[in-house]
Amino acid sequence: MFELYLDTADIGQIARFSACLPVHGITTNPSILAKAGIGLTELLPKVTEALGKQGRIHVQVVGESADAMVKEALRLQELPYDIIVKVPATEIGLAAIKQMNARDIPVLATAIYSVQQGFLAALCGADYLAPYVNRIDAIGANGVGVVADLQLLLDRHGVPCKLLPASFKNTQQVLEVLKAGVASITLPVEVASELFAHPSVQPAVNRFTEDWQEAFGRTLSFES
Ligand code: G3P
Repeated sequence: MFELYLDTADIGQIARFSACLPVHGITTNPSILAKAGIGLTELLPKVTEALGKQGRIHVQVVGESADAMVKEALRLQELPYDIIVKVPATEIGLAAIKQMNARDIPVLATAIYSVQQGFLAALCGADYLAPYVNRIDAIGANGVGVVADLQLLLDRHGVPCKLLPASFKNTQQVLEVLKAGVASITLPVEVASELFAHPSVQPAVNRFTEDWQEAFGRTLSFES
C-alpha cells in the first residue's frame, strides 16, 4: 500500500493532516528536529497521539562513524515505536547501511542526490531511498529524472527497496514523482496543503452553499 508521510516534527500540523489524509507516519532529520525544538523522547509519544495510531517514524542517526551509527540504530530499535533508521548515503553511511542490513535493522538511505548514489544504497540493503527532489533541481539537475531513473533501475534489477522522495517545493514535482511509480513520498506541510487548495475549489463550494441557501434556507439536505 502507498505510504504517505509528512516531513515535519510540528505536532499541530501532524494532527491537522492526520485528520484529513491517510498519513502513514512522519520523516524527520536533525534540522527538522532542531527547528521544531523537540527531541525524540518528547516527539515519539506526541506523534503517536497526533496520528491517533502507531505511525511509522523515520529518524536520522547523528553518529559520525559507521560503528557509532550502528550502535545508535540498535538503541533506536529498542524503543517501542515503528522506527526506520535514516542514514545519509555517504561512504561511511553506506558502510553503516551494510552492517544494519546484516542485523535486520530497517533503513532509509537519505541525502540522495544522484541515481548512482541511490542505487548503491539500495544494493547495500536500504529499505527506502530518499532522493531530494527540489534540492537536486536547485543545483541544476533534474530531481524528478533522478527519481524516475532510480525507480527504473530498482524495477529492472528486482531490488526490494522503496523510493520515498523528499524535498518538494511545489505540487507539480509531487505529481511527477507519483507518475514515476514511487511507493511512498514525504511532503512538507506547505506542499501538502497546496495539494487540495486549488484556487478554484473554494469558490465552487461557496456557489453550492449560496444556491442551496437561496432555495432552501438553512435546512440540511435530508430535511429538504
Ligand atoms: O527529509 C529531507 C528533506 O527534509 C529535505 O527537504 O525542504 O530541506 O530540501 P528540504
